[in-house]
Amino acid sequence: MNFNIAIDGPAGAGKSTVAKIVAETLNMTYIDTGAMYRAITLLSIRHDKSDIDDIIELVKKAQIKIKDGKIFIDHEDVSEAIRSIEVTNKVSTIAKIPEIRHVMIRLQRDMAKNKGVVMDGRDIGTTVLPDAEYKFFLTADIKERAIRRYREMIKKGQRVTLEQVEKDIMNRDLQDEKRDVSPLKAAEDAVIIDTTNKNIQQVVEEILDWIKRGENVVL
Ligand code: DC
Repeated sequence: MNFNIAIDGPAGAGKSTVAKIVAETLNMTYIDTGAMYRAITLLSIRHDKSDIDDIIELVKKAQIKIKDGKIFIDHEDVSEAIRSIEVTNKVSTIAKIPEIRHVMIRLQRDMAKNKGVVMDGRDIGTTVLPDAEYKFFLTADIKERAIRRYREMIKKGQRVTLEQVEKDIMNRDLQDEKRDVSPLKAAEDAVIIDTTNKNIQQVVEEILDWIKRGENVVL
């Protein structure tokens, strides 16, 4: 496909599930930019580094790659490890560091330069790919987002309470919205989709409908 799709929104709005299906349906490449910030967070935890300069040094030395929906640090598949609660609770602090964002944004733009990507994150429509042909911003009530995340975590065997998940999401949203460099925000030209009372298939259909209309094609 000769276009890019940006899908942004807060934690638990359904971005990654929806983005993956949209990418598969359209035979495009799915890129989860949150996974990149998570990988750096994992690196900093493993090396026990909190100092910004030390983390930047680690990022410069490491090779972070996304391939076939998996994420690698120096050829090690860390797709599972980046989903731990420890990483989740630290990632917004790492994602706030401007130098790290600059490196990530450059990598993300490079991945999208030949078109054909569905990229999900927080700042794709506003900063990473302001020229993306299609932009969507997915939202949902905080309660609904917390329940979705809670169910996901319980399914994976993580021991959490719904109250804790809700608190963590609110805290993460706040940090993502308030940061100085490319905060979580809908692009002015994004289509806003409230997913609170919609299932995944409905949201996917809504996105595909916009694309069918824009491209004048039958999908
Ligand atoms: O989508 P996620 O929950 O895996 O994202 C993890 C964190 O990374 C999230 O709290 C905010 C940050 N992030 C970001 O700052 N910019 C992006 N483009 C994607 C994620």
